[in-house]
Amino acid sequence: MIKLHDLYFKPFVSEQELEGTVQRMVDQISEDLKDEVPVFVGILNGSFMFVSDFVKKYPKPCEVTFIKLASYEGLKSSEDIQRLIGLTQDLSGRTVVILEDIIDSGRTLAEVHRIFKNENVKKLIIATLFFKPEAYKRDFKLHYVGLEIPDKFIVGYGLDYDGLGRDLPTIYQLKTTQHMTNLVLFGPPGAGKGTQAEFLKQKYNLVHISTGDVFRYNIKNETALGMLAKSYIDKGELVPDQVTIDMLNAEVEKNADANGFLFDGFPRTNAQAEALDKLMDSKDSQINAMIALEVDDEVLVERLLERGKTSGRADDADESIIRNRIVEYYNKTAILKDYYSAQNKYFGVDGVGSIEEITERLSAVIDKL
Ligand code: IMP
Ligand code: MG
Repeated sequence: MIKLHDLYFKPFVSEQELEGTVQRMVDQISEDLKDEVPVFVGILNGSFMFVSDFVKKYPKPCEVTFIKLASYEGLKSSEDIQRLIGLTQDLSGRTVVILEDIIDSGRTLAEVHRIFKNENVKKLIIATLFFKPEAYKRDFKLHYVGLEIPDKFIVGYGLDYDGLGRDLPTIYQLKTTQHMTNLVLFGPPGAGKGTQAEFLKQKYNLVHISTGDVFRYNIKNETALGMLAKSYIDKGELVPDQVTIDMLNAEVEKNADANGFLFDGFPRTNAQAEALDKLMDSKDSQINAMIALEVDDEVLVERLLERGKTSGRADDADESIIRNRIVEYYNKTAILKDYYSAQNKYFGVDGVGSIEEITERLSAVIDKL
């Protein structure tokens, strides 16, 4: 991953694939042009690397020149009228091959066509290394297309983001989700997970996703996923992981510009942890850490019994029930501790002390991520 200005980009097209693509275009064009001596016209700035590699590979005599489209000065930029500079050569009667780095909306291409209309060229051929079919809004024929790519911003190999990235030898693609800190929060009953979640959410501006809340919300609002989940619950069956993941996905999408997410109550199994990794990956993101509050059993029992005196929660009142819940928690989370430890993402935090002390310990872990 690389960062240019404020944005993150991930590797998208390798040097090898670029090479192969340029070679394929050279082969097609040189074969089609037979013994014609073409004039290759690169559109600056973006095409300089492509044109350089292309003509080095071109097996027959050819001419190379460059033109540049520049915005008229003194006009409002909203009008964005462009003119061509650098076309000094007489091209009448010549076969001209435009070499473009990328065709997006097709506006630049429209301008190229408008200008070449008066040049009396024999033939105007358009070749572009990259083409974004979903963004293209014109119907000029594209004679040669290297790679069709999704409508996402790319940099490298001549293409820039606000001046940076042209020098990169390979292509990078904008990450759709910007850098996020995603945490999975764990803690046995009585560890103070709720209190700390509230604090972390505030301090790091994270969206707190508690699976329990997400379920209750979807069922209460009778969303399609909520109804689906309910149909399993009503039959006394476990809700399939995919349904839960789909609900979490909806939450993540609702908050696409979040700084990150704090997952609470999920995952509980290896399969769920893998599904969550996949979900994050599909958002160009990842789980950065599993943070577990560690509190000695005897302290937990004491705290819960104390809470039981006032909370009225039946399961907080009985010591053997409390101990069972704690045992169950460790049984269930041991595998997840292993899962995240294997990726160096497990962080145990001492959960005994004042609320402030514990939040400080949690912050120390998060700040280092
Ligand atoms: P069009 O005029 O909309 O077809 O866009 C073509 C011009 O926009 C290119 O010559 C680039 O300068 C710029 N452009 C379009 N898409 C990208 C991209 O993904 N990365 C970098 N520049 C781009
Ligand atoms: Mg260009």
